[in-house]
Amino acid sequence: MTVLVAYGTTGGSTGEIAGWIAAELRAAGLPVDLMPAGEVADVAEYRALVLGSAVYAMGWHSGVRQFARRFAGRFAGRPVWLFSSGPLDTSADDGSLPPGRHAVEAMRELPAREHVTFGGRITSEAHGWIGHLAGQLAREGHAGDFRNPERVRAWARGIAAEISRAGRSGASDEHRAVGVVDQLAADRAQQGARDDAEAAIADDDQLRGV
Ligand SMILES: Cc1cc2nc3c(=O)[nH]c(=O)nc-3n(C[C@H](O)[C@H](O)[C@H](O)COP(=O)(O)O)c2cc1C
Repeated sequence: MTVLVAYGTTGGSTGEIAGWIAAELRAAGLPVDLMPAGEVADVAEYRALVLGSAVYAMGWHSGVRQFARRFAGRFAGRPVWLFSSGPLDTSADDGSLPPGRHAVEAMRELPAREHVTFGGRITSEAHGWIGHLAGQLAREGHAGDFRNPERVRAWARGIAAEISRAGRSGASDEHRAVGVVDQLAADRAQQGARDDAEAAIADDDQLRGV
């Protein structure tokens, strides 16, 4: 079964992070669907979810917020990981930034097992209102790429390992269950043979008048 990597991005850098994650999962042999969260129509076919959003004015991308609401509870029993991308400095890399309000809501809604924050990126090439504000941030000295591809990739490798481990133990649980069913059938067949033999002896005894 496929893993869904869904994301919300305005300037493209969170989409790129999602792409790094998808590449690591695929390298570990897992089939992956990678798409903007707003374009996901159904989640029934997925064995796991990685959902990430860019952060603007302390909030998540609307497509990601809506995704969490639309599919609330639909991943019960299947693992979910969340990430945010935002800080325009290296503060995300010490791993202790708390999740924002929308991430906390999504953790509860989906529910998710973990949330991490990665650094963000801002460039003066951004267009529209982001471009305008990005220009301002750049003038204030915040421009740059604060994403850490190695940290993202290491996180994704941990996810791949967990999904693969769960798949293996799920498969061996299934194997064990089949074994138990086979054993029950064999026990039942043996008991049936014993019953038949006892019935035959009883018939024989009756015939011989014992
Ligand atoms: C107007 C504006 C507001 C931002 N607000 C926040 C914020 O509140 N918290 C944060 O961590 N990053 C904030 N950022 C940084 C972005 O989250 C960062 O640039 C991110 O990489 C953008 O992702 P995207 O390219 O996928 O849209 C802001 C950036 C802009 C331009």
